[in-house]
Amino acid sequence: MTTRYRVEYALKTHRRDQLIEWIKGLLAVPFVLHSQPTAVFEPHGESVDYTASITQRRYAEIMRDVEEIVNDHIAHQKAGTHDRSKLKLLVPSVANFFTPLALHDAFIWQDQRRFISHRRFVPPSFNDVRLILNTAQVMSLVRGGPLELVTFDGDVTLYDDGQCLTPENPVIPRILRLMRSGSKIGIVTAAGYAEARRYYERLYGLLDALHASDLPATSKQNLVVLGGESNYCFKFAGDTPDLLKLVPRKDWLLDEMLLWQESDITELLDVAEASLRDTVKNLRMEATIVRKERAVGIVGDQGHRFCRETLEETVLITQKILDMSPVGQRLPFCAFNGGNDVFVDIGDKSWGVLACQRFFGGIEGGKTLHVGDQFLSAGANDFKARLACTTAWIANPTETIRLLDEIAELDEMQQRKTV
Ligand code: IMP
Ligand code: MG
Repeated sequence: MTTRYRVEYALKTHRRDQLIEWIKGLLAVPFVLHSQPTAVFEPHGESVDYTASITQRRYAEIMRDVEEIVNDHIAHQKAGTHDRSKLKLLVPSVANFFTPLALHDAFIWQDQRRFISHRRFVPPSFNDVRLILNTAQVMSLVRGGPLELVTFDGDVTLYDDGQCLTPENPVIPRILRLMRSGSKIGIVTAAGYAEARRYYERLYGLLDALHASDLPATSKQNLVVLGGESNYCFKFAGDTPDLLKLVPRKDWLLDEMLLWQESDITELLDVAEASLRDTVKNLRMEATIVRKERAVGIVGDQGHRFCRETLEETVLITQKILDMSPVGQRLPFCAFNGGNDVFVDIGDKSWGVLACQRFFGGIEGGKTLHVGDQFLSAGANDFKARLACTTAWIANPTETIRLLDEIAELDEMQQRKTV
């Protein structure tokens, strides 16, 4: 029973996104009814373009309907009754939306690139829907313009896991373009270091390029790094060797964060460390415990690689123990696994994004986009950013580039419309 429970409920539900699964299910019906797999071996069957046009119309109608159900949910949010919306009944885990989603137009956009409705054997997939949602989000943001703040996760979003943002990374000119068009930038990463030097080592490609760029000095100030989820804030400073300057906590902490007691921080990290030690022992992991001022984690010994199941088990156990501890009720924390480590950080990315919004003078969630790779409901650290702003869920740094190019293209279209 235990094993079945684990497989059927605990592990699987946290590895599903209910909104995406629900949309996928809706699109499966026209796929079954209208895709023509037999046309592949029937020489006089209808042309693929013809059946695709019919299937596209049906998919697009469904996306229009979902768009309206989201609008209805937003109307409920505004009235304070979001838990009574139709969407909430259909997808109980759905949270609040900061903007409407242009799902119909986003479907057409992605269909023109991924040929979803031309497919006869492979139905609309998780990744199709994830990318449609991303496009719908950036379309709504650009149309509602201007996009005031873009925050990026680090590992897997800007660079490969554990790597650095090196000078040849194609994301650099895209971030500079965003800054040129007036957007502020936050790098909201779990990587937690108290010294500017460590962040310079991870991000030097971008920082050097910004320093050397022809952007006015005031615009260069529009980049901050929020490290350790929400524990260290550095602002760009061209006159320092590391191009970053630590901002004292009193200058950026939100009022609620001022209530976090040092004794609670130590207690929470102690509970987390004990749980991690226990799991390392029980699962015979070749791991070292890393204890920091605001985090505790495990990393593999001498390049040892853990399997996904071990990492997830470690996160789920630690999460549960912290959830059930009194200090876990008092203090926000984030337990997650990276590519080959598990960390528990004090605070989470919702606080990191909120701190960036505050730092730049109070930017709203509906004018902020967080781009990240970890949006599963447990063991993932970008998930919490959804409480603070709109989000885009990417799977690798190449998708981040594509998303930024999409924003640039949509921006141009929008400008042509307003001229
Ligand atoms: P992110 O994807 O930018 O949020 O970075 C996550 C990765 O940063 C983790 O998987 C770790 O490898 C690394 N890391 C380094 N220091 C810390 C820390 O203090 N807390 C959490 N993650 C850390
Ligand atoms: Mg990441």
